[in-house]
Amino acid sequence: MFVFKAGVVGAGTMGGEIAHVIADAGIPVVLKDVNQKFVDQGLEKARSLWQARVDAGKLDPEEQQRKLDLITGTLGYESFGDVDFVVEAVPERIEIKQTVFSELDEVTPGHAILASNTSSLSVTEMALATSRPERVVGFHFFYPASVMRLIEVIEGDETSLGTVQAAVNFAQAIRKTAIRCGEAPGFVVNRILNSSVSELWRAQEETGIDVKEIDRIVAESKAAPVGPFYLCDLLGLDTVLHVAEHLRDSYGDRFYVHARMRELVAERKLGAKTGEGFYEHRS
Ligand SMILES: NC(=O)c1ccc[n+]([C@@H]2O[C@H](COP(=O)([O-])OP(=O)(O)OC[C@H]3O[C@@H](n4cnc5c(N)ncnc54)[C@H](O)[C@@H]3O)[C@@H](O)[C@H]2O)c1
Repeated sequence: MFVFKAGVVGAGTMGGEIAHVIADAGIPVVLKDVNQKFVDQGLEKARSLWQARVDAGKLDPEEQQRKLDLITGTLGYESFGDVDFVVEAVPERIEIKQTVFSELDEVTPGHAILASNTSSLSVTEMALATSRPERVVGFHFFYPASVMRLIEVIEGDETSLGTVQAAVNFAQAIRKTAIRCGEAPGFVVNRILNSSVSELWRAQEETGIDVKEIDRIVAESKAAPVGPFYLCDLLGLDTVLHVAEHLRDSYGDRFYVHARMRELVAERKLGAKTGEGFYEHRS
């Protein structure tokens, strides 16, 4: 199946970048949110990513405008009647995802594939909200989606082989590398990532070492581009906490849940997206 037009639902930390990746490959994409502020932020995110290439002399400004024109921001579903592939990127809560999947089932053509960027939730449960469970699949980008090459294609119980193949093809069309995985908690990447980051979280709480000091040492050692606590702020503490709790519930105490992170989420200090988390972030 060829994707002539795509949709992205949720224009937050991930949605704007996902729309950028799709439009960068020359595919028109409609970017929907429930809040105009996030639609605008998503469009601005895409524009600024191309602007960096313009500034570096790698993209001419007319081409930037042509790419930007491929993204349509919206608060409604009126432009979803001819999409072939939708990536849902709304908050990591099953009831929100199921509502969105049921809406997408109504407004998209029957052949359209409905994909979720979920980090940990059940694709099978999302598919239950639709009349086309065989066309529902996980399509898990990594932060920042404009840079990270990998996409996990996650098969729910009812996902058809044709849908998996179409998702892998679409990943290739937008210049990503797909790996197929089953619905195991954490899939592949977050299971590996969280097992190592768990030890840093545990050590921080056991020793009381300042999180900024840990970040500085990790970044200076070049073990990772940024330290683990700063990274959590960029990813969104609500999303990181949800994944951490899911892995702990699924695999036991070898996966750690950072207590201060839980407090910050309870205070709605979610990191860069709200302006404060482990760090303060200027907008
Ligand atoms: N943040 C990450 O690093 C990351 C990485 C990979 C996958 N994910 C997954 O991507 C999804 C989105 O995460 P995020 O970090 O972008 O979240 P986010 O909180 O930054 O953004 C979610 C957006 O969805 C919008 N939204 C809420 N309800 C909606 C609805 N009914 N219809 C349309 N839009 C709606 C919100 O207004 C918000 O703009 C989650 O499933 C998360 O697990 C996140």
